Order: sequence, then structure tokens, then C-alpha cells
Amino acid sequence: MSTSSTTPNKYLEANFAPVDHELTVTDLAVTGTIPKELNGRYMRNGPNPIGAVDPETYHWFTGTGMVHGVQLGNGRAGWYRNRWVRSRLPSAELGEPDIGGPENGNLGLGPNTNVGGFAGRTWAFIEAGPFPVELDHELNSICRNDFFGTLPGAFSAHPKYDPATGELHAMCYDWETWLDHIQYVVVGPDGRVTKTIDIPLPGMTMLHDTALTPSVVAVFDLPVLVDFDLAFAGRFPFRWSDDYQARVGLLPRDADDARAIRWFEIDPCYTYHPLNAFDLDDDTVIIDTVVHSRMFVHDILGPSEADGRLTRWTFHLDTGRFTSEVISEQLMEFPRHNPSVATKRHRFGFGVETVDNVFDLAGLVKIDCDTGSTQVRSLGAGQQASEAVFVAKEGATDEDDGWLLSLSYDPNRDASDLVIVDAADFLGPEVGRVHLPQRVPFGFHGNFVADPRS
Ligand SMILES: [Fe+2]
Repeated sequence: MSTSSTTPNKYLEANFAPVDHELTVTDLAVTGTIPKELNGRYMRNGPNPIGAVDPETYHWFTGTGMVHGVQLGNGRAGWYRNRWVRSRLPSAELGEPDIGGPENGNLGLGPNTNVGGFAGRTWAFIEAGPFPVELDHELNSICRNDFFGTLPGAFSAHPKYDPATGELHAMCYDWETWLDHIQYVVVGPDGRVTKTIDIPLPGMTMLHDTALTPSVVAVFDLPVLVDFDLAFAGRFPFRWSDDYQARVGLLPRDADDARAIRWFEIDPCYTYHPLNAFDLDDDTVIIDTVVHSRMFVHDILGPSEADGRLTRWTFHLDTGRFTSEVISEQLMEFPRHNPSVATKRHRFGFGVETVDNVFDLAGLVKIDCDTGSTQVRSLGAGQQASEAVFVAKEGATDEDDGWLLSLSYDPNRDASDLVIVDAADFLGPEVGRVHLPQRVPFGFHGNFVADPRS
């Protein structure tokens, strides 16, 4: 195993430490109730190195991916599975033949950042190079898939789904090969790329996510930049720059060229994750996003300098004015919303409480973006939540009328559960809890993919 109690790297310790087995366990123990709407698979991706890694240089974002999944249906938890996401390197480390499919870049690792359903298939995603990997229903890797030969290069771990068009919209970068530009990519409902626009940038920023409204898509050109000294030293190749102008670009979705972007200079900061974005009117775009004051200044092994607060960015297209207003002082990350409000005006954001200005996760957070009213809910003494995935209740009319699914780690038991919370009755009794057969290391993002209705 790659971990030991003497390693100096916190991203290999405690529940950051990888697990070393793939399990398939059926008929899981459940406390409470699994609501009838939950018929499908909850899945979550995260880094889980295979074998030894160097604790001096290992960065949390670079571990090869592992997807954990729980199948729910008919009020039962049918199975838990965890599978490494295969690609050239993990397959070699596991002593298996490569899964095949086109390859982009030299990283070779299995996508470790997000997992979800699109175009009738299941995909594992990562930014900065490697092509997506297609998974089967039981989380086994099928092949690398460049959207059936239509993706020119890198993709993103955070494509934004537009419910109005059925498209994915992504801002993509590839620091190894695209030194002077990023690429905007639109994928149609059939899983094939329909549009790309190259966007020149003055530096190679770590472009983690984007924001989408019916009229524009955002470019976060922020001062976390590639550092080739780090890259040549075999380290994660991004760090903070004091000299780079932070700015946000808004590209009209109907544009054919990057020259249509409206740029807004902003104060130095970094954002990984917008909650959502919408057009307030013809001349005003709103992006609610978790803003950190700095990132990768001192800690170049992980995001421990996080101090994110949900913040409203307002862009006035008519005057060029930009304002930034903190919605809630609550430290948090991993913002999610009811999927039905994507690109529309939302009211509620759900996230994970962070503690002591670092990426130490605690309870769940619910923020009313209209009022700033904030609720924090513990999942149990000492337990650490993960990103909350929202699933609407059947016949729901209110935006918060749904279930939140979050993996919870209990250090006292060294065990993980999948916890179900009523998003409307956020501080009320826990709805249900699926007890998992092994702990799930801290990771990144996931989704609930409903089974097709029979
Ligand atoms: Fe992310």
C-alpha cells in the first residue's frame, strides 16, 4: 500500500488514504428509509492511487480515479461497487490489458474527478488532457471515448448540462499541448461534439469549471497558472501567481469566434465551482460561485488554502460594471442545486461545510441565495460529509423539494455511509442511511443516474 503513518502528506492520510480492493457487495444494511424516487445509481469519483506514490510530491488531484457506486431501488440498497477507472497507467499497474480507445496527452491516468450519465451512457471525466472513459452499468471501464471521434483534445470534469437543449457545454484546457489557448466545446444530445471555439489566453490557467446561462458561457481566467519548474520536477504543475490579472469572460453562446467575449477584470481570487448562473435580464448575468481568496500559494500538494464562500458575481453587459457580493459567510465547497434550475434563476444552494479555512469537510450546508439565510446540518458527531447530490421528489413544486445524497465518513468507526437528507426539511430527522462495506476516501464529484422507467 502507498500509505503509512509516517508519510508527511495529509492527502495520503486518514480518509484521504486510498483503498486497495475492489468490492461488490449486495443487499446492504439500511437504517431508516430509502425513498421511492431513488431508483438508480448514486456514483462518485475521486483519486485513489494504485500502489506506492511518493508522499513528497503526491498531489491529491493527480491520483488515478476510482468510482464508488450504490444501486438504490424499491426501497432497498441493491449493491455497492468500487472500481478503479481504467486507462493505460492503471490497467498496467493492475496487470491488465489497456481498455483501448483513443488517448490524449501523456498522463495516462484514469479520469478521477467526476462521473455521471449522458447520452444514455456513463462517463468518468477529468480536466487537462485524458479523454473521458465510458463505464458500464456496474462501473466497469469499457473504453476511452472521445465522443465517438469528435473531440479535438482535452475535455473537462465539469461540463454544464443545459436542460433546454440537452447539450453539454465545457471549457477545456490542455497545459501540455495548448500553451496559449483553451477550448470551448459543445456536445450534442447524441454524445457528439457540435461546436468548438479556441480561446486565446495570456497564461495557462487551471480552468476547473465554467458557468452557463441561456445567453453566455463563462471563462474563468484566474491566477493559478502552470509552472513548468513544478512540471519538470514531477509535481502538480500549477501554483498561485501574484502577477496575473484575474478576469472572467462571457462568451455569447451563439458566437463563432472568441473575439465576441466580454472580459471583466476582477480582484485576485480563485474559484473551482460555480453553484449556477442565469440571465437576470438582457444586460445582466449572474454567477453564484464559491470564491477562495488564494489557492496553491504555500500548499502545493492540495487545496488546503481554501476559504471559499458562496458569492454572487454580477456582470452588467451594458456598462461593463462588475460587482462581487458574498451571499453567505459560511465556509463551504462543492455547491450543488436542484438540476431543474440549471441556467435558470435559482434560490437554493447545497454544499459541504469546510472548517478552519482548509478543505476539511464537516456537515452539509443549505443557503438561501435570495436572503443569505444559511443552515448547517451535521451528519453525526465527527462525521464528514461529501458533495450533496440533489434528486427531486416526484411531483415536486418547490425548488428544495427533494432528497440530498451525501457520502459520510465517520472517523470513529473508520466507515462510510450514504446518507439521505430531506432538502426541504433540512434540519429534520435523517431520512435514511446505507451502510457501506468499506470506507470511501475523500474525493470529488458524482451524480445520481436514475434507471430508465419500465
Ligand atoms: Fe470540481
